Amino acid sequence: MATTGKAEPRKAAASAEPQASATVLVIHGPNLNLLGDREPQTYGRTRLGEIDRALKELGRELGLKVETFQSNGEGAIVDRIQRARGRARVLVINPAAYTHTSVAIRDAITACDLPTVEVHLSNVYAREPFRHHSTIAGIVVGRIMGFGAEGYLLALRAAKRMIDMQSAHADNRA
Ligand code: DQA
Repeated sequence: MATTGKAEPRKAAASAEPQASATVLVIHGPNLNLLGDREPQTYGRTRLGEIDRALKELGRELGLKVETFQSNGEGAIVDRIQRARGRARVLVINPAAYTHTSVAIRDAITACDLPTVEVHLSNVYAREPFRHHSTIAGIVVGRIMGFGAEGYLLALRAAKRMIDMQSAHADNRA
């Protein structure tokens, strides 16, 4: 290609067009609606509403749209994951007790091809042996545990990094 001596427009200029912000879906499993009151020595005093508000605020700072969802039902969680298929860029999930038992949640994440960060408020390895097994550990990008409510914010920062890396990868291939 003949060069004009002028600087070539950078490839990234295409992404100067306004882009819809990437969506991160955050799912909280059973009994996490009781956070603040439930075993505060293990799970802390921060309520779920406060966590969700902090996530949305950090999302705004990071240029992400954060959707949050809590359910005590395994099927409802599977349905919500399926609705995120092709819409959310990253899933952040604390499956709570379902972490240790749910093949259905694992299969939903795999079926929907959602890059996922697993979060736990407590360090499950410092607790009873039945909490040491996670059905999703082998299919998630990473796991954050033991930092209480702060862990969700760390997970959102990790999600931002994953999205930036996906986008850089896509730009390189364009
Ligand atoms: C939890 C750990 C699980 O073992 C437990 O069943 C929960 C919460 C956590 O965030 O530390 O409900 O996922």
